[in-house]
Amino acid sequence: MILKVARLGHPVIRAPSEAVPKETIRMPELQRFIDDMIETMHEYEGVGLAAPQVHVSKQIAVIEVTHNRRYPSEGPVPLTVLINPRIVTASKHSLEDWEGCLSVHELRGRVPRAESLEVDCYNRAGEKIRLHAHGFFARVIQHECDHLVGKVFLDRMPNLTTLTHLHEFVRYWQDD
Ligand code: NI
Repeated sequence: MILKVARLGHPVIRAPSEAVPKETIRMPELQRFIDDMIETMHEYEGVGLAAPQVHVSKQIAVIEVTHNRRYPSEGPVPLTVLINPRIVTASKHSLEDWEGCLSVHELRGRVPRAESLEVDCYNRAGEKIRLHAHGFFARVIQHECDHLVGKVFLDRMPNLTTLTHLHEFVRYWQDD
């Protein structure tokens, strides 16, 4: 089922979300919700989606990158479900690049993010896992983990001078 996406201004986007009790992860209701999140991410062509973005204040995020022409050198990111993610290490070295968000409609901006990180979380089978990510995957993980504490990419921009509407992004900046 495709879920309705909450946009910036809806209080759920700014609310810290609740941890998911480990014993509830395998329950059919939660599994169905994860499937709905994946379907919603695909429908709106996102590379990631966090539960607060579909009005559910729980620490769940889904990520998948099949093709990204902005990062042609980065491999695709397989479908990944992160429950109660905690970034445990992050590189001091950061990279700046463009980000957008389904909840921040039609805007793009340049955001510095740690180049690599390790994140502890549960997968959808309820297993504790540690993911090692770099480049675009690390960027998307940081973007989605931010959603789970009520932050959006605008909060991470050093200033707003690169903020651009999508139409102008395609026209002036995409091929830079
Ligand atoms: Ni987002």
